[in-house]
Amino acid sequence: MNVFTIVGSLREKSYNMHLAKAMQQRYSEKFSLDIAELKDIPHYNQDDEHNPPEAVKTFKQHIKEADAVFIITPEYNWSIPGVLKNALDWASRVDKVFIDKKVMILGASISNAGTLRAQLQLRQVLSALRANVLPPGANEVTITTAQTKIDEDTGEVTDQNTLEFLDQRIESFIEFIEGK
Ligand SMILES: Cc1cc2nc3c(=O)[nH]c(=O)nc-3n(C[C@H](O)[C@H](O)[C@H](O)COP(=O)(O)O)c2cc1C
Repeated sequence: MNVFTIVGSLREKSYNMHLAKAMQQRYSEKFSLDIAELKDIPHYNQDDEHNPPEAVKTFKQHIKEADAVFIITPEYNWSIPGVLKNALDWASRVDKVFIDKKVMILGASISNAGTLRAQLQLRQVLSALRANVLPPGANEVTITTAQTKIDEDTGEVTDQNTLEFLDQRIESFIEFIEGK
């Protein structure tokens, strides 16, 4: 099984990128997890959508070929980061690679909000893209006060409750992918 992962932060020591890489290792026997290079994706320009930059072609090809997609994102100003929205806008046009794609939403923030407001907005965008996302409450992961649960320097997820919760959510997402 092949799960393509989009991380909404370009920060070097990003908690959300740390989470993606921790999942890459922790679930390596369940699925392969490739991580998108959002930093290479230029600003969306409708003039270029039929002949997009190489980085966009690669990004869309990965989504097309994936069995499912994880979107792991921080919350910026109660919404999703611009780099993520930009990438989703490219993916939404011409060959519409998110149609029926199974997507799981995860996020870590340093506040008690745990990216919930951003996740609700992301769901709205994914509805426009006609992605297949389980209803709110069924499958998302919201990590609050990430600085107490993920080591910013080593990238390790240090909180056992978070890891156990993640394990449960991943199991249910795999069942969703397999249509159980
Ligand atoms: C521009 C900006 C806006 C932010 N807005 C929010 C916010 O609305 N809610 C929140 O919980 N955290 C907010 N934060 C704090 C983030 O939770 C924190 O920077 C987090 O570490 C970002 O994720 P990352 O570590 O993956 O880069 C904001 C941070 C930045 C840089």
